[in-house]
Amino acid sequence: MDRASQIVKSFPQSRAGGNPPDPHDEDSRGTAMKPDLSKVLSRGLGSRPHAVAQLRKFSSRMLEPGVHARFYRARKMFILTVVSSAIGLGNLWRFPYVAYENGGGAFLIPYLLALFTVGIPLLILETGVGYKTRSGPPLAFKRLLGRGYSVIGWAAVLVAFLIVTYYSVIVAWSFDYLGFSFSLAWGSDPSAFFYDDFLQLSDGFFSISGLNLMVLAGAILAWIWIYLSIFKGVRSVEKMVWVTVVVPWLLIIIFVLRGITLPGAMDGLAYYLTPNFSALLDPGVWIAAYGQVFYSMSIGMAIIIAYSRFLGEKSDVVKNAVFIAIADCFTSIFAGIAVFSTLGYLAFTHGVSVTEVVRGGIELAFVTYPAVISALPVLPQLFGVLFFAMLITLGVGSAFSLVQAVSASLTDYVRAERWVLTGAICIAAFAVSLIYMTDAGILWLDIIDHYVNNFLILLVGFAEAAVIGYVYGAPKLREFVNRFSDWKVGRWWDVCIWVVIPLFLGLALIINVIDGIADPYGDYPLAANLLGWAEVVVLPLVAVVLAFVYRNHEGVDVDEQASE
Ligand code: PHE
Repeated sequence: MDRASQIVKSFPQSRAGGNPPDPHDEDSRGTAMKPDLSKVLSRGLGSRPHAVAQLRKFSSRMLEPGVHARFYRARKMFILTVVSSAIGLGNLWRFPYVAYENGGGAFLIPYLLALFTVGIPLLILETGVGYKTRSGPPLAFKRLLGRGYSVIGWAAVLVAFLIVTYYSVIVAWSFDYLGFSFSLAWGSDPSAFFYDDFLQLSDGFFSISGLNLMVLAGAILAWIWIYLSIFKGVRSVEKMVWVTVVVPWLLIIIFVLRGITLPGAMDGLAYYLTPNFSALLDPGVWIAAYGQVFYSMSIGMAIIIAYSRFLGEKSDVVKNAVFIAIADCFTSIFAGIAVFSTLGYLAFTHGVSVTEVVRGGIELAFVTYPAVISALPVLPQLFGVLFFAMLITLGVGSAFSLVQAVSASLTDYVRAERWVLTGAICIAAFAVSLIYMTDAGILWLDIIDHYVNNFLILLVGFAEAAVIGYVYGAPKLREFVNRFSDWKVGRWWDVCIWVVIPLFLGLALIINVIDGIADPYGDYPLAANLLGWAEVVVLPLVAVVLAFVYRNHEGVDVDEQASE
């Protein structure tokens, strides 16, 4: 077996799974300050001159041409932007593989359960937090709970930043591969091409001898696209999400149609969808389902809180969450049909069993799929271009959401033009990502990603649910959310926040820590895994430092930001 498989095999399934409260309560600071009409109205205006002033200001703005549209568009935009961040490479290369490994069609049972007990509830929680406080995560947690709690928000922001540093590099590879598609440059051995010719993979984690200029060029394209998507804040995102949601959907449909009409497709689909109900007795399958939902919906990160601060008056938090979850879930299932039907075809053309060609993660996209493309009977180049265009649009949508989350959080703290701030964040992230563009880059990417997914995101999600559930009070947030929703959530939501989420995330964390110590990840030198652990420890510490440095910061005027 080549180095290839050892390295990235684990990539797709790499996730199994204070201070005293602020003396100013959040109601007077978090919401009434904001142009939140119904909230202001419901509290009796007479005794609140400040609220009256706000209401006037808000009402008059509502009457301005274009402003009303901003609020209307904002809701649709919210759904699309969150969908854009949720649908990503994970839907294409992670879900189908995880489902295949964990009971095939039967995996849908734990998956849907996880969707309704973790995915949707956390989505509602994060939307509620962002909507109520109209702040990015650090300030949001401070406003809701007191200044010490901004640590959770800072951790989320740092995790988002860290992820985009390597996620963008995968987009960079996809740009390069889009170019390679024109000549089917990977030839007859896509694996050797990917690792040796393209990445020029070095001998080990610490043997780094230089930058890969091809990857660098791809990364520059990726970052230009990311920057253009967000440099005007929500205004530009609003336009770009049409591209990063609708284009991949159309392309997935094309690949489904192409896939199922190929010989061998049904065999492939049988591997993907045949239910193996006995798998449901394996607790690992359940952890995998919860892990996948968590990863796929991009929760436990700054993204959703940061986006929901821009929600308009008619936000309908619950319906949004359900819609987003369903859209993401369907994208995954459908992408799986595209992937497995073509894997069936690949097995058919090579005269082997489907199990021998199944891969997930980076290998699926950059080794297996190129082989599929070369084997296509008509217009392989065109399908190559379309496939990598699909990866790029899926990847960019998630990548710019991550940067947008960081930038929408920092605007609370830094008084700078949005385009300058966003540019600075992009440049900083680009600089960090240079490490993944070296000849050992994929190894670094694999390690950093493994520790982010197995520990950091779970930690943030756990902390979010625990503090909102127990310190702030789940029922209190639920009541708030229900006031702005046609569909109301019941007490089951409290139970999810109090019990189900902390239980599953806590369990997954404990299992991952034990596993990680007993059996260090991959075939890496000890120092590489120590680096991973250092990441898990240092990032929260940096969050603590940031929370301390900004402990007295009250946030830049929100109205000013909303009217960008
Ligand atoms: N949700 C994305 C996907 O399915 C992955 C992702 C996770 C993107 C976290 C951004 C942040 O691929």
